[in-house]
Amino acid sequence: MKNILTLLILISLPLVSVPLVIGCSPVVPLEEVSPQQSAAAASRHTRVEAVAKKTEIITLAGKGYPVPKQWQGRRVASRALGFEELALIPGQLSHEHSKLYLLKDAQQALIAMAAAAREDGIQLCVHSSYRSSWYQRKIFARMFAQGRSYEDVIRYVAPPGYSEHALGTVVDFYPSNWRFAATPAYRWLQQHGSEFSFQESYPQDQPDGHPWEAWHWRWQPRQHVLSRSHPF
Ligand code: DAL
Ligand code: ZN
Repeated sequence: MKNILTLLILISLPLVSVPLVIGCSPVVPLEEVSPQQSAAAASRHTRVEAVAKKTEIITLAGKGYPVPKQWQGRRVASRALGFEELALIPGQLSHEHSKLYLLKDAQQALIAMAAAAREDGIQLCVHSSYRSSWYQRKIFARMFAQGRSYEDVIRYVAPPGYSEHALGTVVDFYPSNWRFAATPAYRWLQQHGSEFSFQESYPQDQPDGHPWEAWHWRWQPRQHVLSRSHPF
């Protein structure tokens, strides 16, 4: 009799356990997941995250490249800037009178800073400023065409999507290479840049080992919340 009862109970149970459904997401009842299964799932999840972190990649000319350590986690979530938001840097402040642009407020701050520098006998000269992500890609394409390798270019050019230049608030002063650190302009900027809300983005001896870029200065006024994704 007991056996018959057990049999009746067993056949009345559903053959397949149906997950609970909330909205469109099936939810497996907690008691169906053993602590071991749960630990295994957590460790799988951590592994997936670790792999995702390791494999931050960018695609250039249809080929994937790993984002170097010093750039990982530094993606700049900037939107494409509209032409009407930008202002031309006056020709006398740009190297070879190139047409270079900044966000309007940043351009004003640059002009004021350059005027103060001039009074101190220092000529500030801008080599590069706003660059869209598309333009950042073009830099890679141009350098690849010159036979330079990704490893070579990535040492001083941010991966597309990671460059602060896309914010419209950044200038590279001329010459935009290691020689700039030895110029009176650099010394002047170190002393007075902050008075105009300009600061070095990649100073010497950073704890994360990011290469020093003495020529790269970002306008970042204090009243704005500091954020890599904010245009300021
Ligand atoms: N040279 C800096 C890192 C840039 O490309 O944004
Ligand atoms: Zn730069």
